[in-house]
Amino acid sequence: MTTAAECCDLILFGSLGDLARRKLLPALYQLEKAELLHAESRIIGVARDAMSAEDFRERVQQSLKEFVTKEQIDNEVWQRFAKKLHYCGLDLADLEAYDDLAQLVNPNQRAPICYFATPPSLFPVICDGLASIKLNQAPTRVVLEKPLGHDLASCCKINQHVARYFDESQVYRIDHYLGKETVLNLLALRFANSIFSDQWNHNTIDHIQITAAEQVGVEGRWGYYDDAGQLRDMVQNHLLQVLSLIAMEPPTRLDAESIREEKLKVLKSLRPITQANVNEDTVRGQYAAGFVGENRVPGYMEEEGAVGKSSTETFVGLKVHIDNWRWSGVPFYLRTGKRMPQKRTEVVITFKPQPHNIFHETLNQLPPNRLIIRLQPDEGVEIQMMNKVPGLGKRMQLKPTTLDLSFYETFENKRIADAYERLLLEAIEGNQYLFVHREEVEHAWRWIDGIRSAWTQLEKAPKPYAAGTWGPVASVTLMAQDGREWDDES
Ligand code: BG6
Repeated sequence: MTTAAECCDLILFGSLGDLARRKLLPALYQLEKAELLHAESRIIGVARDAMSAEDFRERVQQSLKEFVTKEQIDNEVWQRFAKKLHYCGLDLADLEAYDDLAQLVNPNQRAPICYFATPPSLFPVICDGLASIKLNQAPTRVVLEKPLGHDLASCCKINQHVARYFDESQVYRIDHYLGKETVLNLLALRFANSIFSDQWNHNTIDHIQITAAEQVGVEGRWGYYDDAGQLRDMVQNHLLQVLSLIAMEPPTRLDAESIREEKLKVLKSLRPITQANVNEDTVRGQYAAGFVGENRVPGYMEEEGAVGKSSTETFVGLKVHIDNWRWSGVPFYLRTGKRMPQKRTEVVITFKPQPHNIFHETLNQLPPNRLIIRLQPDEGVEIQMMNKVPGLGKRMQLKPTTLDLSFYETFENKRIADAYERLLLEAIEGNQYLFVHREEVEHAWRWIDGIRSAWTQLEKAPKPYAAGTWGPVASVTLMAQDGREWDDES
């Protein structure tokens, strides 16, 4: 049985923007459908345009038609949801305009949850505005969307400004990967199964691969992307969060403080990548024209909005070391890119080989066991292991086989909720364990800045790769130089 969350006013800054339309409003609708929103809760859209609540409802209905599947739309739910929608038009930079918002909310009746779905350059001014109407005391919470800065200095600046008015316990920094069902399942897999928890260290694990590949290119946001690049856009946040959950020590409890403390220790233990090892341990790539499936797609520099020359990377491959007892000598290989052959996010854990092969007459080399955690799509867990081929005439012929736990087949009829549904719900309930602590985000930037600065000093330009391939050849070499290969090559 589910119970509705705390009564709140969800104040959505940037409520007409892309993120709100594509993700946040559909997610709130799904929460309403699942009866997880309190009957008295409200959603207050905030944006610069002047419009009535009725007009706003119409805009939201349009977005739902576009971004929620037909089968999920239910008229009764929509009627309930529409009643919760309100609107306040205000110029975010005009402090006096916030009085209109003050008239609408009453923290004694409903906890204000202020979601900043705007460019981060507006975060400071929104904080000033909220403070000017005294909307910065508990129970107010602020939810901050990424990107939180573009380097350590700019991130600290935002964090300092937010901290002027809000205590860290009121701040919810989003990394939408932390809301994904399968990312959360990493906790269950590791800490609810002794067969894994006992093996999770350098004694049994040879190396770990984390891949986040996308088929899409820059999707019409060349300007933003060209300033960011794949290292900032995907590694600084999503990949480092997944890595932290895979590598952290068992937290003492399933709460924000315990989990975030352990993730932070991992981030602090990342071995810096500097000029000394950047050439060996990193790969930068940029896609050229090619084919994704049957479709011919343009290169990065031919994308809509592209200007001049660009040395921004759309692919990153990294070899990462975590300098602590558990992971001593176990490399983590990370790769992420746009215009790859498939959309695929997965973690592959390769175990050490058997010390002695008694099957050498039929098999020279025993392939290592692998645990594959498919984060998306086709969510599930696979174990690759050796089996005897059955049959009288086969003697001891062995074959690699797979134990495959597909979530869709195992948990039939269970709709996998979008990450934003979970994150919005947790923010409404005041649970911070799926949000990123200030120190985590700052440590992640410190490490990423090191890589960027080494790239700049050595003028390491991205290597071209054809769209629809797994990145530049150098990515294969990154593994091959250690006698290993990416999962898709084996
Ligand atoms: C976003 C990045 O944070 O994550 C995008 O800005 C990327 O560039 C997206 O496409 C990937 O998210 P997901 O959930 O589709 O893996």
